[in-house]
Amino acid sequence: MALITFAQIEEEDPYFLDVDKWPDWQTQFGNSHPLKLEIGFGMGSFLIEMSAQEPRSNFIGMDFYHKGIRKLMTRIKKLQLENIRMAYGDVRFKVPLLFKDGELETVYINFPDPWPKKRHIKRRLIKPDFVKLIGQKLAPEGQIHLATDSESYAIEMLEYFNSEPLFQNQDPGSGFLESRVDLPKTKYEKNFINAGHKIYYLEYSRLASATPTT
Ligand SMILES: C[S@@+](CC[C@H](N)C(=O)[O-])C[C@H]1O[C@@H](n2cnc3c(N)ncnc32)[C@H](O)[C@@H]1O
Repeated sequence: MALITFAQIEEEDPYFLDVDKWPDWQTQFGNSHPLKLEIGFGMGSFLIEMSAQEPRSNFIGMDFYHKGIRKLMTRIKKLQLENIRMAYGDVRFKVPLLFKDGELETVYINFPDPWPKKRHIKRRLIKPDFVKLIGQKLAPEGQIHLATDSESYAIEMLEYFNSEPLFQNQDPGSGFLESRVDLPKTKYEKNFINAGHKIYYLEYSRLASATPTT
């Protein structure tokens, strides 16, 4: 079976965006429903389920994993989902270019690559500058949902988001939620749960203005 090339996808598919500037999301979707971004969608099942669950939200998935992109594009077409777009590329470069400040209502980062080896930890996506960037792009009272099975990454996420005065942790206890009820389970999540791993869920709300740190 011949593989579909990205050029073919781009030509044939208005849902696939490989762009370096703000695409005017309202024109893209044909409405002004809230924008929700999934960073690193993998095979795309979370995005597909969310878009079916919330037809009055617009979902954007961002990733550079070719196999997952092809799978997602095939499923969007088959299911005729109008409220998803796929934005191709490295989120560290694309998020600043594709979104205006305060434009996103929700961001999901499910199981970002944990880079468990000590010498690779610097490759982790979630770092203080990235947390600031997300704070800039989220609307006031916008939400970010994170999940990982890596304890050391979870502790880093907690530290970086707690240190950013714009964010408020939504768990009054440890800062980690035991579970989440309204969100579909991702492929990695199901695999980790089946393997008996503990999952660390974090949820933050973006405040309207930064509270001073004491
Ligand atoms: C471990 S997988 C998790 C996939 C999915 N979220 C899940 O939970 O099943 C991480 C995903 O993030 C993507 N990713 C990692 N770094 C990225 C980056 N800088 N820009 C875009 N995607 C990235 C990878 O290609 C991969 O699809």
